[in-house]
Amino acid sequence: MALLADSLKRIKPSATIAVTDKARALKAAGRNVIGLGAGEPDFDTPANIKLAAIKAIERGETKYTNIDGIAELKAAIAHKFKRENKLDYKASQITVGTGGKQVIYNALMATINPGDEVIIPAPYWVSYPDMVLLAGGEPVAVPTSMTAGFKMTPQALERAITDKTKWLILNSPSNPTGSAYTRKELKALTDVLVEYPHVWVLTDDIYEHLVYDDFIFTTAAEIEPRLYERTLTLNGVSKAYCMTGWRIGYAGGPEPLIKAIAVIQSQSTSNPSAISQWASVEALDGPQDFIAQHNKIFKERRDLCVSMLNQARGIECPKPEGAFYVFPSCAGTIGKTAPSGNPLESDDDFVTELLDAEGVAVVQGSAFGAGPAFRISYATRTEDLAEACERIQRFCGNLK
Ligand SMILES: Cc1ncc(COP(=O)(O)O)c(C=O)c1O
Repeated sequence: MALLADSLKRIKPSATIAVTDKARALKAAGRNVIGLGAGEPDFDTPANIKLAAIKAIERGETKYTNIDGIAELKAAIAHKFKRENKLDYKASQITVGTGGKQVIYNALMATINPGDEVIIPAPYWVSYPDMVLLAGGEPVAVPTSMTAGFKMTPQALERAITDKTKWLILNSPSNPTGSAYTRKELKALTDVLVEYPHVWVLTDDIYEHLVYDDFIFTTAAEIEPRLYERTLTLNGVSKAYCMTGWRIGYAGGPEPLIKAIAVIQSQSTSNPSAISQWASVEALDGPQDFIAQHNKIFKERRDLCVSMLNQARGIECPKPEGAFYVFPSCAGTIGKTAPSGNPLESDDDFVTELLDAEGVAVVQGSAFGAGPAFRISYATRTEDLAEACERIQRFCGNLK
């Protein structure tokens, strides 16, 4: 009898983690590699947040907690939703998990029956389709175009909805494109959703705070109160608070869904780390000014990438509204030959040859359901970023 479950055949490991691991291995072997694959800020967790964790340890907050979050953290989250999103969520409508990733996974596991469809605009975060598949559902990718800013149109959304649609997953600002819906663009989508009461909305707002050029972030339940009863508003502390390793994500939503998520959590991981929960109370309730300081640096890096990549032969790089990614097209390089003599037939080839020739690790667009393109995470030291962009220019210039 085969050891592994059939459900595993439906999914693959995360491509972004694979690239990061490969870059790390090359570095360990002595190669000069610049890794632009990882989706995490290079900034350290702010000192006040670390201190809150240390104090929590010293107070002995080291035991099991409520399955889906301590009351203090739920209060801080409720306050955050009210303050920043004008959304009212009671403690019983809030869940805390081991990263936003776990909350999404639990929500899909709690709601998907075999054959249920989940609409996912592409390019998408690598984990959405695989999580849907693992839950027994069918991911329905809706392609978007670079010329339309990688945004799904209301017409495309309406065309994708069927009787079997369970969820729409919206991620704005987006991983991997950095693209973010304006209020008007989001309203056009929520207007469609209002007409289809059987469709639930999962808004992944994890990059909410990372927006530039006076862009104003909005979320579905805020824009359209009629969707409140079927929206899961997801967020977390990983990106804005530089807390990827602390593993805290959270969501607000209707009570029956929040309860179901807690049941799954209770039979799998139990509560997220008690210490990280106390650190997250400080993150959400404490000073927020470092976010603007980080954003100033992120914006400079975004502009640097966009400008330098657009000077690379065969590359076209749009300027996104947020997150810390750019998603340039490498269509102009396909069909050419790499310095190794290998042909570039796809964006997979592009990223492999780029890593071999110049030691720059990026992630192929095909991993995000779109291409030929690649994703750069600019949450990395500015000097390294400039050096990496120079190497990409040289690589593209050397293609025959
Ligand atoms: C779009 C998106 N959603 C959710 C997550 C999950 O983050 P975490 O589990 O660290 O909260 C990530 C992390 O890369 C992401 O890019």
